[in-house]
Amino acid sequence: MTQPGLIGQVKRPIGVFDSGVGGLSILKALRTELPFEDFVYVADSGYAPYGERDEGFVITRSRTIARYLQDHDRLSIKALVIACNTATAAAVHLLREDDPALPIIGVEPALKPAVALSHTKRIGVMATRGTLASRKFKALRDSLAGQAEFICQPCDGLADAIERDETSKIIALCADYTGAIGQFGLKKDQIDTLVLGCTHYPFASHHLQTLVGPEVRLVDNGEPVARQTRRVLPLLANSGQLGKLVLLSTGNPDALQAAAKRWLDVNVNVQRLTS
Ligand code: DGL
Repeated sequence: MTQPGLIGQVKRPIGVFDSGVGGLSILKALRTELPFEDFVYVADSGYAPYGERDEGFVITRSRTIARYLQDHDRLSIKALVIACNTATAAAVHLLREDDPALPIIGVEPALKPAVALSHTKRIGVMATRGTLASRKFKALRDSLAGQAEFICQPCDGLADAIERDETSKIIALCADYTGAIGQFGLKKDQIDTLVLGCTHYPFASHHLQTLVGPEVRLVDNGEPVARQTRRVLPLLANSGQLGKLVLLSTGNPDALQAAAKRWLDVNVNVQRLTS
């Protein structure tokens, strides 16, 4: 019996989505880890940001995009990566219930890797309000109780400023939020590790690193998610030919096109999605 996605047979892409351009930070790691796979990326920029919306809104958008990626006859994804911490927290369990046969990989703030890296065991966490308020995040934090102190900062407006590429606003918000988290450094009682718990934030990492100092470790989840995707994928493409990339946006296609050029160094025509 033929199984779609097997070597030498019709290739099916891996779907990836985020509220906007942030998930490109995950897509970059995915394309490095799985260079022969085809990817289709949806930026839900027409409905971004997710982080300050209610859970029901994020669930509805996540379901709409997941269904589109599965049902569209020319896409028909073989796996789904939710490249968004906020959407993962709100909807990963529901999307898995909707289609138990589809491998679905979510992202969560990299608290566990941060505990392993930190010496002072004081860890800053920047994430959206939605992620930090979620049951999923609470369970993750509780599972690490006693291993480190987490100072969690909701970063209203930061994903949106990154989405719009508003440099002075990005710098001002990063300064406000790192200032609110506390004293960074390697000394006892200082915060030596900063978790970037939203996939947009790696695109502000140069500003953040300048603000917290060069010795502080910034931790995101691109590479762990890419490795996890390799582990759970039953059928890997192995054609020897680099995979193709389709980019779709529910918002301004030019913004995604510019971000893909800037962050992934790819020139792909972005198609407008009206879902
Ligand atoms: N990039 C998303 C995340 O990882 C969401 C940002 C937003 O839309 O607020 O949470």
